[in-house]
Amino acid sequence: MIGSGYVGLVSGACFSDFGHDVVCVDKDARKIDALNAGRIPIFEPGLEQLVATNAAAGRLRFTTDLKQAISGVDAVFIAVGTPSRRGDGHADLSYVFGATREIAEAATGPLVVVTKSTVPVGTGDKVEAILRDARSDVDFAVVSNPEFLREGSAIGDFKRPDRIVVGTDDPRALEVMREIYRPLHLGEGPILFTGRRTAELTKYAANAFLATKITFINEMANLCEAVGADVGDVARGMGLDNRIGRKFLHPGPGYGGSCFPKDTLALLKTAEDFDSPVRIVETVVQVNDSRKRAMGRRVLAAMEGDPAGRTVAVLGLTFKPDTDDTRDSPAIAIVQTLLDAGVTVRAFDPEGMDAVRALGLDITFCTDAYHAVEGADAVAIVTEWDEFRALDLPRLATRMAQPVLVDLRNVYPAGELDRAGFRHAGIGRRGNPPKSYGG
Ligand SMILES: NC(=O)c1ccc[n+]([C@@H]2O[C@H](COP(=O)([O-])OP(=O)(O)OC[C@H]3O[C@@H](n4cnc5c(N)ncnc54)[C@H](O)[C@@H]3O)[C@@H](O)[C@H]2O)c1
Repeated sequence: MIGSGYVGLVSGACFSDFGHDVVCVDKDARKIDALNAGRIPIFEPGLEQLVATNAAAGRLRFTTDLKQAISGVDAVFIAVGTPSRRGDGHADLSYVFGATREIAEAATGPLVVVTKSTVPVGTGDKVEAILRDARSDVDFAVVSNPEFLREGSAIGDFKRPDRIVVGTDDPRALEVMREIYRPLHLGEGPILFTGRRTAELTKYAANAFLATKITFINEMANLCEAVGADVGDVARGMGLDNRIGRKFLHPGPGYGGSCFPKDTLALLKTAEDFDSPVRIVETVVQVNDSRKRAMGRRVLAAMEGDPAGRTVAVLGLTFKPDTDDTRDSPAIAIVQTLLDAGVTVRAFDPEGMDAVRALGLDITFCTDAYHAVEGADAVAIVTEWDEFRALDLPRLATRMAQPVLVDLRNVYPAGELDRAGFRHAGIGRRGNPPKSYGG
């Protein structure tokens, strides 16, 4: 497994838990040192135990040395990052191609090379060309096997997937993949065997569709505010229809994280390159981008009057609960909007503060929610961590300079906030004041 980040480490640990021998490789020596010392470099529920058990059983090893790791393996997975390329939004494939060249150099015999990273259509062809050009003496088969796990529930998602997508037309590679995934297949997750390009596109299509669903309900939330409807009920009324489904119909501050923003952008670039525009996704990207700062303005407006010199408590910095991932989190854009307006920001997040600290923003990091709201003119709930779901609202209010709460996840019913004496605003539902904010 090349790359021991969220995907590589979880995949490697789960494969080893099913009995396979796995070596996780990473260029980052600190990560590998930590893993070898029994420390997990990311926050993912259940991962520490899973890694410890399988490392102790000798099925899971960690190294920076690809040459040593690759000797005698049946398959090598590429699970390195594919961030947005600076400037044009294309997927930056330098890590994938870098890993590919290293594989070519290290290969000792026939090898199935599997791209698990999310990569644009045609990347498998390029990976294959690099391998063949570098090593005409080795028989390589290149497979696309995109990963669909979600941070926060990654182990469950990996072990009990809705589906496994395997893109190859090489019979030998197909057999190896079938064997690797056999234990998961027993647990009824269907394996979809398909062409390599189809597999590559399937991942982007799925993510773009989910991003569209989120953005759709966010726009419905805006409309609910305008017409005096309740988006929670609208979403429930829609989602109970099996053709629509209830998931991903929760309005909020916009989608973020390490996948949807970069994958939607990369899909747009692919569509452009192939002269086959995906207008819906173009709009989704635009709407979502403008929503993040709009949510910051919503917080500013809820305080009423000039925001400069006021203080806002931000609860939640990660893009969703149960992860320490703050990449492209809406919270960052919201904090930035507040800082731009001259606001003092106090923030708390159970797992995401180290990553945000590294960004160098002028934020006071706090020890918990009650500490964060001390002297604040407003509090914004940005990420629905469990520990923000049952806050002692009267206690919160008494610590604040003004009891103003902006609930960007609709965690609290309006009536509860009324009773605790808050002036409040949510998303797509009644607030008080109802819609004085500029968002
Ligand atoms: N994070 C998710 O929830 C998720 C879900 C599905 C798919 N994906 C996709 O999986 C891929 C990996 O994502 P991630 O979140 O795990 O990334 P990550 O940044 O957490 O991990 C990538 C790791 O690869 C290492 N790396 C880079 N080049 C290397 C090389 N040549 N040799 C060894 N190690 C190398 C980096 O040091 C890093 O530790 C991306 O394409 C992403 O889009 C991510």
